[in-house]
Amino acid sequence: MLCDAEMKALIAGARRAQAAAYAPYSKFKVGSAVVGEDDRVFFGCNVENASYGLSLCAERVAISAAVCAGVRRIKCIVVVTDAAQPATPCGACRQWMAEFGTAEMEVVSANSSGNSRRFTLAELLPEPFRLD
Ligand code: THU
Repeated sequence: MLCDAEMKALIAGARRAQAAAYAPYSKFKVGSAVVGEDDRVFFGCNVENASYGLSLCAERVAISAAVCAGVRRIKCIVVVTDAAQPATPCGACRQWMAEFGTAEMEVVSANSSGNSRRFTLAELLPEPFRLD
C-alpha cells in the first residue's frame, strides 16, 4: 500500500480538517487528506452553501489545496466521516481523483468508530472520463 506507514497520521489530520467542516445544512462533516507524489500532505473539509448545489466536498477541497501548491500527481487520498460505515467518495470526487491520480491510486475511507476501507481508484471508478 502506497501510504501505509503514515495512515494513522493521515486519518488524524483528516479528522482535524473534518472539525473545521462548514456543514450547517446537512450536518454531515467530512474531512480529507491528500498525499502528493512528493509526499507533501494537504487537507480539506466540506464547505456548504445556502444554495445547496454550490457546496464543496472535502476531497475536492483537499485536492485543490494540493494542486494550488504545485502538486500534479496524488498517490493517496483519505476521507473521514462520522457515518456508521466508512463513506466512500461521491462520483464527482472520484472523477477529480482520476484527473490527478492513477488507476492504482489508494483511496481510504474511515469513520469515527475506527473502521476503515481501502480501495484503488480503479475499484471505485473503473472507467473515468478522459479526453484522449
Ligand atoms: N460530501 C463530501 O464532502 N464528500 C463526498 O464524497 C460526498 C459528500 C459532503 C457534501 C455535503 O456537504 C455533505 O457531505 C452531505 O452530502
